[in-house]
This record gives sequence, C-alpha cells and structure tokens, in this order.
Amino acid sequence: MASVKISNGKSFSSAAGDSMLDSARAEGLTLEYSCRTGRCGVCKAKVLSGETEAFRDELSLSAEESQCGYILTCCRYALTDVELDVEDIGALGDIKTRTLPCRIDSIGVLASNVVEVVLRLPPNSKFTYLPGQYLDVIGPEGVRRSYSIANAHREDEKLELHIREVELGVMSAYWFGVAKGNDLLRLEGPLGTFSLREKDARSIVFLATGTGIAPVKAMLEQIMTAPEIVKGKQIYVYWGGRTENDIYWQPDLKRLNAVFTPVLSRAGSSWGGRTGYVQAAVMEDFIDLTQVVVYACGSETMIFSARETLQKAGLPDRNFYADAFVRSN
Ligand code: FES
Repeated sequence: MASVKISNGKSFSSAAGDSMLDSARAEGLTLEYSCRTGRCGVCKAKVLSGETEAFRDELSLSAEESQCGYILTCCRYALTDVELDVEDIGALGDIKTRTLPCRIDSIGVLASNVVEVVLRLPPNSKFTYLPGQYLDVIGPEGVRRSYSIANAHREDEKLELHIREVELGVMSAYWFGVAKGNDLLRLEGPLGTFSLREKDARSIVFLATGTGIAPVKAMLEQIMTAPEIVKGKQIYVYWGGRTENDIYWQPDLKRLNAVFTPVLSRAGSSWGGRTGYVQAAVMEDFIDLTQVVVYACGSETMIFSARETLQKAGLPDRNFYADAFVRSN
C-alpha cells in the first residue's frame, strides 16, 4: 500500500482502486471536494513527487494542468509513495457523513420553477454540518440527487433545500408533481467542503447563480449569528439569474457590513438593476481582488469563468472556493 503525504505533514495510505480522496477520508483527513466524479475540479491537487494512476476520467482538468502535474484526487490512487501540495480541512475532520431517514416537513413555492423543501430528521439525530455543505436526497426508487443546505443550524434541526425544476428530470417529476408533506425519504450527508474559511483577506465576495444562493444564505446566517468570524471585513453578495423571477429571495443584511447585488443576464425593460454576469459585475466594481476571498456556487459555466477571470485580475489561487452544480437528469 502506498503512502500519501500532504503539505502540512500529515499522511494517509492509498489502496489501488480507491480514490486518494476517499482513502484520506477513511483516515479522518478531509481534502477539498465536491462532486467526487471528476467533473467540478474542486479536488485538484499538484503532485510534488511520486506516481499516481487514474481510474476515472479527469473531466475538469485541462491538458495544460495535467502537464504541470495537477491531478484530481477523486479520480486517482497512488502507485508509489506520493507527496501532494494540498492540506486537509481540519474543521471537517470530526464531521461524519451519515445516512438518515427524513420526512418532508413542508414544501413551499419560492418562484415559478423553484420550491423550498424543508426536511425533518428523527428526534435527536444531531446532524452536524458546516453551512455551505450539501447533502444527497435518496428519493423514490432510489433516485439520488445533491442539494445544498440552505440554512445554518436551526434549533429544531430542520434542513431547508432550494430545488429548481429540471426539464424531464426524474427527481423533478417527484418534487414538482408527487411530493407532499410527511413523505419518507433518506438523506446522506453532509457532503462537500464548501464552507467559510479563516482568511486574512479584507473582503468576502459571494457569487451565486440560481439556486446556488442556497449555501450562500446558510453561510450568511452563520455570519449573522457569529459576526466575529468576519470582523472588519466588507461582504459583497452577487446573485445572478436570467430574469427577475430568478431573484426569489432578499437577504436581510442590515446587521452586516454587506452589499447585495442581483445581476440579470436577460433582464426585462422594467429592470433597473445590474445586468450581465456576476463575475463581470465584480470586475466592474473595482474590488481589490488581491485582498479578497471568493465563495462561488452555481452553474459550472459561471464557476469556471469566474475562477479564470478573477484569478487573472489578481485573486490569489487559494482564495477561490467553489461548489459547482453538475448536471443530473
Ligand atoms: S472533480 Fe473531484 S470532487 Fe469534483
């Protein structure tokens, strides 16, 4: 069995056939990840020494990145002892992913194509997560879909999800046609590493498109209950949609040093706000990106474009955290 050493000196064993990401998790070390299937690029890491082998396609890695020694830890295992230029996320080490039964507590309409589903867990489940993380709902006939948790911890432990209707989507047919209060489902979570980090940056920029606002809402609620975690920092929230119908939620940011900017890409003539794409709006606002940490959640297109645009404009590589919604039917 090969050994994998990471840049903060910790190490774990890697077995052929298991991803380095899963091998690390099995030993209590959480590396950055989201989709676990090679499509989002969140688990990208540079190999400093040693040989690795891919057992699934590294779809989100460019040829240039591969040539420069980058790999996706969810797609590879170690062939020899390996050194990776990544660190584990200590705050997530104690949070275990669990599978639990749950019931639909309520379903409410947020927009013509978005519902809010509130899930109720069995009493005393003690489901622990960091705002920003997601979970998988396992629905009728075992269909599984990922949704960000849209709230910080609530006293009643209920979990809010924002669910967008997907044309011909199998799970959409359930949420938008069949689901009703008290339905029994299962969930697996929490999953992913999208969460607030301790950073020296002067400003925090949240970028969301569509229901990508859900984890941002959860993180803002976390900040509201513990404002000291962002003390002295300016917060910017950019939320992109096509039309006004997509801006289905208004954050209450009165107690925070925060600016909320909805941005529409197909605005009607009555829209008096910003237009275009969220990443372009950040660039137009002349925020000093060398002093910023960005949390982006939404479409793959937005995430990849935002990362590239903002990093070219001075955003430090390690100050971009993202959760990309990868498509399922
Ligand atoms: S590409 Fe590995 S977690 Fe998404």
